Amino acid sequence: MPSPELTVVIPCYNEAPNVAPMVERLEAALGGIAWEAIFVDDNSPDGTAQVARGIAARDPRIRCIRRVGRRGLSSACVEGMLASSASYVAVIDGDLQHDETLLPRMLAALRAGEGDVAIGSRHVAGGEAAEGFSSLRRRISDGGTTLAQFFLPVPVADPMSGFFMLPRPLAEEIAPRLTGRGFKILLDLLLSAGRKLRVVELPYTFRPRQAGESKLDATVLLDFLALLLDKWSHGLLPLRFLAFAAVGAIGIVVHLAVLSLALGPLPFAQAQWVASLVAMTANFVLNNRITYSDVRLRGAALWRGLAVFYLVCGVGVAANVGVADLLMRDELASWGLAGAAGALLTVVWNYAVSATLVWRA
Ligand code: GDD
Ligand code: MN
Repeated sequence: MPSPELTVVIPCYNEAPNVAPMVERLEAALGGIAWEAIFVDDNSPDGTAQVARGIAARDPRIRCIRRVGRRGLSSACVEGMLASSASYVAVIDGDLQHDETLLPRMLAALRAGEGDVAIGSRHVAGGEAAEGFSSLRRRISDGGTTLAQFFLPVPVADPMSGFFMLPRPLAEEIAPRLTGRGFKILLDLLLSAGRKLRVVELPYTFRPRQAGESKLDATVLLDFLALLLDKWSHGLLPLRFLAFAAVGAIGIVVHLAVLSLALGPLPFAQAQWVASLVAMTANFVLNNRITYSDVRLRGAALWRGLAVFYLVCGVGVAANVGVADLLMRDELASWGLAGAAGALLTVVWNYAVSATLVWRA
């Protein structure tokens, strides 16, 4: 069988009840087009992959990629696009919020050379983000859109859209430069293209979610800001480093706060130990949630990771207490400066080891 003209990539996390309706809708929308659909599931506990495989067993147009040990909307989309051999690839949410009937018009626009990327847009005439958004989400989304537009080389009304289509070779060309993190894969593509892509925006109405729930959380917003900074600095400030620096800064604040409290009842060296332990734990939790959200440790692996983190950092803490104590004893620095110097040492040490020994990123 020759490869189809269009691959529809469908990122899914806990979307089991939406898989079969999605296939039916694609079937109805894509008459006359040679298409396939690739569900990219991150080992959802609700069995999304099993449902997709069940359909794939009967229908050769349906494929399923099941990723284990990894999470992330953008990276799932990239993986799906790179698994395609079609002329065009589209990305559409797996929760039925995007309007699949737009796909044939996106394809027609690309075939006619009207643009490099066709975007399903809520913010051009005729488009709408109906009841799908709460007022808070709408405000966050509008703020993000304005911010993103500031960084974009071309005007795009809806750069936050997760619904778009482009020629597969173009996706392959840009793929190595993508950050691949967070939720905003279209924005990542536009910012990583290395040239001004011509976009054609087609209006659609963002539907309210029927089943399941949104995976958007605070981490996603941080990832979004980090994506902009990463691209703006031309990779000088990569996402992980930025996240690490931010978490490290929080760790130092936590450390100093605990130290100032513990200095009342405890002698300096002991207070510094307590502050280090609390800051270390806070750093571990925050790094696991933010810096390493794509390979986040859970369950048993979380405790193993924390244990290793403590062990390795034990060395760091010893050095921390040693340095701070030395500075204090010789009256080279105030307790604040001594504490900060010790904490900084621990953060640098944590940074160096965590990537390989704890998260294995
Ligand atoms: N494989 C995988 N891994 N899929 C994921 C993950 C993940 O970690 N997180 C979310 N998804 C899937 C969801 O299952 C859903 O199919 C789709 O990605 C969108 O996730 P939602 O959690 O429903 O996001 P949303 O509704 O808040 O926002 C979406 O729609 C916006 C409007 O177009 C996103 O796609 C936004 O990027 C988009 O702007
Ligand atoms: Mn959604």
